[in-house]
Amino acid sequence: MSQNLRIALAGLGTVGAGVLRLLEENGALIAARAGRAIEVVAVSARDRAKDRGVDLSSYDWEDDMTAFATRDDVDVVVELVGGSDGPALALARKALAGGKGVVTANKAMVAHHGLELAGLAEANAAPLRYEAAVAGGIPVIKGLGEGAAANRIERIYGILNGTCNYILSEMESTGRDFGDVLKDAQELGYAEADPTFDIEGIDAAHKLAILASLAFGTQLDFANVDTTGITRIRAADIAQARALGYVIRLIGLSDCVEEGGERRLFQRVAPCLVPTSHPLAGVGGPTNAVVAEGNYSGRLLFEGAGAGDGPTASAVVADLIDIARGNAMPPFSLPVATLEASAPADPGHRRNRAYLRFVVADKPGVLAEITAAMRDAGVSIESLMQQGQPEDDGQPVLVAMVTHDGPEGAVADALKVLDGSPSLVEEPLVMRLLG
Ligand SMILES: NC(=O)c1ccc[n+]([C@@H]2O[C@H](COP(=O)([O-])OP(=O)(O)OC[C@H]3O[C@@H](n4cnc5c(N)ncnc54)[C@H](OP(=O)(O)O)[C@@H]3O)[C@@H](O)[C@H]2O)c1
Repeated sequence: MSQNLRIALAGLGTVGAGVLRLLEENGALIAARAGRAIEVVAVSARDRAKDRGVDLSSYDWEDDMTAFATRDDVDVVVELVGGSDGPALALARKALAGGKGVVTANKAMVAHHGLELAGLAEANAAPLRYEAAVAGGIPVIKGLGEGAAANRIERIYGILNGTCNYILSEMESTGRDFGDVLKDAQELGYAEADPTFDIEGIDAAHKLAILASLAFGTQLDFANVDTTGITRIRAADIAQARALGYVIRLIGLSDCVEEGGERRLFQRVAPCLVPTSHPLAGVGGPTNAVVAEGNYSGRLLFEGAGAGDGPTASAVVADLIDIARGNAMPPFSLPVATLEASAPADPGHRRNRAYLRFVVADKPGVLAEITAAMRDAGVSIESLMQQGQPEDDGQPVLVAMVTHDGPEGAVADALKVLDGSPSLVEEPLVMRLLG
């Protein structure tokens, strides 16, 4: 390895250009802190002619980014292209197999292929880092893998998607409905033209799977993240939640539980009611926040910008500084062979309070039908609210209720009984209360 840490950058979009700007502006400070300079040797993107607002003239250009993996003058490849498979994965595999370090911001790739890539990294003594893949500029990977490394993490949860948090906080402050606010968010650049990954909870699920592996020493298991997005939340739900002393946030939550004599992994991304007194309730706009509960550290709260060129570049360059210093933390904090393959936990056994919202036909007996299904399944109702004006006669009515603490399985049983009932105008919405 040369004196300088020599890097090649694949992807010159929002994050890639941000990394170049940061290295340019803070180069001397970074070199002093890393103990050596970080030198960009080569770059690659799709369109060589595109103006990226940064001067590329001193770097080699490669049309095929996988060429980085075989260049002798490159120590670390920085992958900022995106996509779980395709060229990003091909590059990461080839670079690690050839003994080069890889730094990536690509949560989709890490969530799907992180275990394989960590295995390659280990086998070839090459560093693999992905701080920017989870919660953008927040140093939560390092916080968990190093700062909290002495702890058994009991539970990890947080707000992992800035787009959803922006939409929910806008709905909260303006009283507007989901579709309206989404349109604005797209115009303002807080949501993509195709927002599916964000609003359906998939992006948050990628990040949660990574956090869970790191926190619990388990193998990545993205396929078993129980994922629900925010598309069904109405302004009326937000108003009901507020009346009860809660706000609605998309929460990714994971913990390990004992089931059938073995340790099982629970992972869920879903909108939840968060008490207004909880630190996550105050996290508004596109901000992200992660809470980790360590058995010695107690509750740790990481909060900051979850996206954007500056914060994400800050996390990418932090990884480069770590590599330049020779920090050899394993990618998931433990050697790959020791990461546990945990079966998914059965959510039916979890106990919590739930908010249930029904849209029902405005006719006699409907409320009795719902409450009877709850009673027969052993679900105890703490409060019940009905929304509908006398002048709305004949229109569907919104009925919301909050249950007492009880097993999720009981609520599921009650909803099974109601499934297909002509009294229900749409599928009931269930949100858990964060306890
Ligand atoms: N944006 C954020 O705030 C943020 C935050 C955290 C993590 N991330 C992650 O960071 C990564 C990059 O995100 P971004 O927002 O910077 O994306 P972006 O703005 O869309 O940039 C993607 C870059 O990759 C290049 N590229 C795409 N497909 C390519 C291909 N087949 N061959 C060669 N180059 C290709 C593009 O080239 P052209 O420019 O020539 O089209 C572009 O420069 C993603 O994994 C994303 O999930 C982003």
